[in-house]
Amino acid sequence: MAERVKDCIAAAAVDAVVVSGDLTQAGRQREFAAVGDYLKGFDAPALAIPGNHDVPVYSLLTRFLAPWARFREHVAPQTDAILDVDGVRMIGLNSARPARFGLDWSLGRLSDRQIRFAAEGLKAKTSPAAGLKVVALHHPVVPTPGPAGGAVIPHRERALQRFAAAGADLVLTGHVHIAGARLIETASGAVINIAAGTAASTRQRGEPPSCNFINWDPDNERLDLRVALFEEAGAISHRQRSFSRRRGAWREKTA
Ligand SMILES: [Fe+2]
Repeated sequence: MAERVKDCIAAAAVDAVVVSGDLTQAGRQREFAAVGDYLKGFDAPALAIPGNHDVPVYSLLTRFLAPWARFREHVAPQTDAILDVDGVRMIGLNSARPARFGLDWSLGRLSDRQIRFAAEGLKAKTSPAAGLKVVALHHPVVPTPGPAGGAVIPHRERALQRFAAAGADLVLTGHVHIAGARLIETASGAVINIAAGTAASTRQRGEPPSCNFINWDPDNERLDLRVALFEEAGAISHRQRSFSRRRGAWREKTA
């Protein structure tokens, strides 16, 4: 499946790739080595962030003393990072945690420091000026149906409002294995949340593996999402959503 996804991305000749976490199943060294090689195979720059599955499961010493060492060795030097491509600023935030109070360690959160990092990055002047500003994290920012759909980050309204106030247009998320898009209103304006399905996991939750293709048209301030769903027997089906921005405000375009 991973090669099918890579071929589909290559055919689309994308300008950048964002991988919104869960690069591995259990954070093993060999899994990270493989995904590091995989990401280097793209012709476009990639922004990757960890997910809850990327915390080492089978080495408690590594999990607690150096949870992101493998990610840093094989994927990227930083777990919170910024990528600028052709007037699009993308900020990745690591919402996964090696442990937390409570039994469910798969849940995520963002710290005040991370929200500040994103807000400062969103507001910073870039050259060329960013016409589209994106925040990416692994955990969902709105509850959705399905087994993992309730795993929203704590204090999500405050985080989204800070992102919107700093100029964020898009918030990309993963974790729930169901692709979709929605406008989220905040006290500082609306942001578009685009959720990724699973690209290669066998844990499917009601829909096949998928990959989101986001096309940004800066001249018309139009954003199109195409979800490519990898059906059986090599077939690919698609779902489309479109949004437009007028005087700084996003709305969904209806057919
Ligand atoms: Fe996850």
